[in-house]
Amino acid sequence: MIESEKVRHILYGGDYNPEQWPEESWSEDMQLLKEAGVNIVTLNVFSWASIQPDENTYDFDRLDRIMELVQENGMAVCMATGTGAHPAWMAKKYPEILRTEFGGQRRKFGGRHNSCPNSPVYRTFAKRLAEKLAGHYQDQDNIVSWHISNEFGGECYCENCERAFRQWLKERYGTLDELNRRWYTSFWGHTFYDWEEIVPPDTRSEHIDEKRTMFQGITLDYKRFLSDSMLEAFRLEYEAVKAVIPDARITTNLMGFYPGLDYQKWADHMDFVSVDSYPANEDTYADIAMAHDLMRGLKQGKPFALMEQTPSVTNWLPYNALKRPGVMRLWSHEAMAHGADTVMFFQMKRSLGGCEKHHGAFIDHVGTGQTRVYREATALGAELSALSGQTLGARTPAKIGMLFDWDNWWALTHSAGPSCELDYVQEWKRCYRALREMNYEVDIVSSRDDFSGYRILLAPVWYMVKGQDDEAVRRFVAEGGAFVTGFFSGIVQENDLAVTGGYPGKLRDVLGIWVEECDALPHDAENSFVYQGVRYPARILCDLLHTEGAVQMDDSGYETDFYRGYPVLTKHSYGKGIAYYMATSSSDDFYRKFLEDICQEAGVQPVLRTPSGVEAASRVNQNGSFIWLLNHTEEPQEVCLPWEGLDVLAGSAPVNGTITILPRDVRILLRSAGYSQRSSGFLA
Ligand code: GLA
Ligand code: ZN
Repeated sequence: MIESEKVRHILYGGDYNPEQWPEESWSEDMQLLKEAGVNIVTLNVFSWASIQPDENTYDFDRLDRIMELVQENGMAVCMATGTGAHPAWMAKKYPEILRTEFGGQRRKFGGRHNSCPNSPVYRTFAKRLAEKLAGHYQDQDNIVSWHISNEFGGECYCENCERAFRQWLKERYGTLDELNRRWYTSFWGHTFYDWEEIVPPDTRSEHIDEKRTMFQGITLDYKRFLSDSMLEAFRLEYEAVKAVIPDARITTNLMGFYPGLDYQKWADHMDFVSVDSYPANEDTYADIAMAHDLMRGLKQGKPFALMEQTPSVTNWLPYNALKRPGVMRLWSHEAMAHGADTVMFFQMKRSLGGCEKHHGAFIDHVGTGQTRVYREATALGAELSALSGQTLGARTPAKIGMLFDWDNWWALTHSAGPSCELDYVQEWKRCYRALREMNYEVDIVSSRDDFSGYRILLAPVWYMVKGQDDEAVRRFVAEGGAFVTGFFSGIVQENDLAVTGGYPGKLRDVLGIWVEECDALPHDAENSFVYQGVRYPARILCDLLHTEGAVQMDDSGYETDFYRGYPVLTKHSYGKGIAYYMATSSSDDFYRKFLEDICQEAGVQPVLRTPSGVEAASRVNQNGSFIWLLNHTEEPQEVCLPWEGLDVLAGSAPVNGTITILPRDVRILLRSAGYSQRSSGFLA
């Protein structure tokens, strides 16, 4: 087992499925991959059926031959346990491993990520496979990490899950009385007298469709339960590998803003975070950065592994646009700029059949290195190798924390009212995007994290305030922090029951306001307000609030309707700090202006001021402070440097003054020394 300290370079490579190809082609693949600078392959991701042809046989011969070849070629391995798709024989013999869909339809064999997470049979077989693999490869010293299953996710509503849900509820609430109280079952005559009466919330029971439920508390708990169930399935395999290889570094590939799993909880059980990054066509560079920052935040700022991205094209979007020349490199650097210590891909070689035959790869169907994508991959491999690990382990010196929370996401998604246009992630994105586009560093934090290192804590639409979370905020502000939140916050507690005594509930004192009502504006309807002489729109929701110690910051209040003149922006001094409230959703221009003002007041500086479309992001380690400049536009851009630095990708040539960055080009500039301590990389 390679020790993490020995990984002193950027791991470059990704998913490789040679079992889909005739063996004669493997050595040619190796040649091409080596020439492209690949130093790691992820193996065995979907090989359950090929390793285990029946209940009692495990056959590692082919994987042994692949492993041998990979080792001969000096590559490291990320070893997947292969449980992302169960074998057909297993589904036939044990139909209980099959999932049941939201509408109650029991699936047959097919697809992948298809096992019921609560099936005892699936769990037994998955654990056993992980055990066998770990036992078989425990002395293989080029395995640098283990990869449990693949992209855990999806849902199940089968009888296994129903039984397990009741058990989960018993453990959480103890008695039926408590459950009835927590779920507020006096509403619509839902009182439960027997645990067996409880059924999963789907279209056969509480749901009208995926989003609309008649009982938020039940739906919310089922979301939590499913996330926990899959986490348990992950942990069974994790522990099976650890039992054999105690120093194994184990992960599973997460998916950024994936609604199904509470990654903040999951990350506690993973040795390092890894992520798959597949931006949608319409995603901006800030949207991509936001997902990376979320992943970096899962382990309080520790670097993560970029496990998958496509070199060129996906197959599953409605329109699968090619990544334009330079974009693969640009986005790889963007991931690094936000905390990735590996640059990995799906996939090394394109399949001939199945739904991924049109998905991009380093080696295309033509089978040679004479392709644009291969040439770009080779150039990137060489560039990353020349970096020789200088940036590894570097941390993002963010002074702004943004609070993200899966329970809030679920609760808002399934909330009945006030507006179908209220979308947690979209609202959240408006604030994040404004900050990122101005090059402010942001850490995405959970409410359990320590906020003391931040000057600003931003919590857009903090609808559900759980447990003592308000205490942490009060402390943060009292000690001098700036807290920013806004409309539809502090409305419910952890079971989605409304707070009494006035909104925003437990945040009322620190914000110094009382929100009496909340108006939902129909699609395209707008109110407006003026802030520092400029008129901005008020959209989606308008809180009608009264100040209680806070002062109004906007010039006009709402400009129309019966609540004309009611404050939109407030500011409240609390202890040594300030708490801000934004009573409505507004435009990008507004967030840029308002958040920039708050940053200035809090003494928080951006990494650098750059022209629009040029991103600057920084990371600091014992080698100094690295500033990535990423030109996301199709024009050359000039950036004025207020300091002198070294151009790392240009042989560390000195740079200062105004520099030109070509379209889609990347610079990494190095300034002065950073931390004196060696910071540890993602595997440590
Ligand atoms: C996911 C999966 C991969 C592959 C890619 C295709 O990330 O983990 O197995 O299917 O999508 O984009
Ligand atoms: Zn199930």
